[in-house]
Amino acid sequence: MMTESVSRPPANLSEFSIIARNASRQVKDQIQRFFEDAGIPSAGLVLWNYKKYFRVSAYALTTKQRQRITKAAKCSRLRGLCVQGKWLRPKDWFYKWQESYRKISVGKKFLIVPAWEKIGKTGGKRIPVVLDPRSAFGTGGHETTRLMIRMMESLEGKFTRFLDVGTGSGVLSVIASRLGAEEIHGFDYDAMSARIARENFVRNGCQGGRFFRANLGKVSGTGRFDLVGANMLSRTLLRYRKKLASLTCPGGFLVVSGISKRHFPDFRKQFPTDHLRLIRVLNGRSWSAALYRRNQNRPSYRG
Ligand SMILES: C[S@@+](CC[C@H](N)C(=O)[O-])C[C@H]1O[C@@H](n2cnc3c(N)ncnc32)[C@H](O)[C@@H]1O
Repeated sequence: MMTESVSRPPANLSEFSIIARNASRQVKDQIQRFFEDAGIPSAGLVLWNYKKYFRVSAYALTTKQRQRITKAAKCSRLRGLCVQGKWLRPKDWFYKWQESYRKISVGKKFLIVPAWEKIGKTGGKRIPVVLDPRSAFGTGGHETTRLMIRMMESLEGKFTRFLDVGTGSGVLSVIASRLGAEEIHGFDYDAMSARIARENFVRNGCQGGRFFRANLGKVSGTGRFDLVGANMLSRTLLRYRKKLASLTCPGGFLVVSGISKRHFPDFRKQFPTDHLRLIRVLNGRSWSAALYRRNQNRPSYRG
């Protein structure tokens, strides 16, 4: 779990990076495919776009992973690009992500600002969301989070009670508050994430939030929330689909993200319950998100 990695970073973690200048879309895709073919899933890649430079980094924890990447690098057809590898000391590893964390625009309205940067001119009318994710997932830049935010923006004015399932850094709770939610509950089975989410919520001056450690399989609160958001592995979403439906109030909305685009057709067949109706799908480059609405007429339903 995340907390274990935080207190005991692996002693022999290595980083492999490819940096390209003025890279076309095709070259960017090729670089990502290189790592995917070498056994690093796209969710494990760190992408960095800054001015003219594009960098992709992958982290190998085992000798086998290291060998696969090294071997792939030897036969790589990425012309003019080389794979740079280095060992990371635990200290480097823990703070590594901060180097590539910059202000980012998300959705139509928001600007995510790392807590250690100045807000500055917020890109015109964008609303700043100040975050220090530390060990929690949720810098706001991951495609799965971006899709969630776009869905939430499209529901502005239609919800006041938001449930942030797997809150991570709390980014979605802050966004929900900015979109007008008055009562926000966020939970994560990682205790450290729940703490970090609370800190980020307070950091942004948001009110009406409650953050706690819990496993989705065990939470209660039937039919209470008019918007439930869950950005998680699709197998977790499928396993707890009835629970997610039961947490959503009749007539309320459920947004799910974290479903790989390739597997979305299967997910779509398996996910609905008798109580949920699919009303919108958003596709990103590699991920999909879906918006469901719970039926009006089944107030006594329990997941
Ligand atoms: C992909 S992250 C999403 C973080 C943030 N909500 C976002 O959209 O950026 C998924 C989060 O769900 C949490 N999580 C995964 N399975 C869970 C479960 N069964 N119960 C509670 N939290 C869970 C993880 O610890 C992680 O913080």
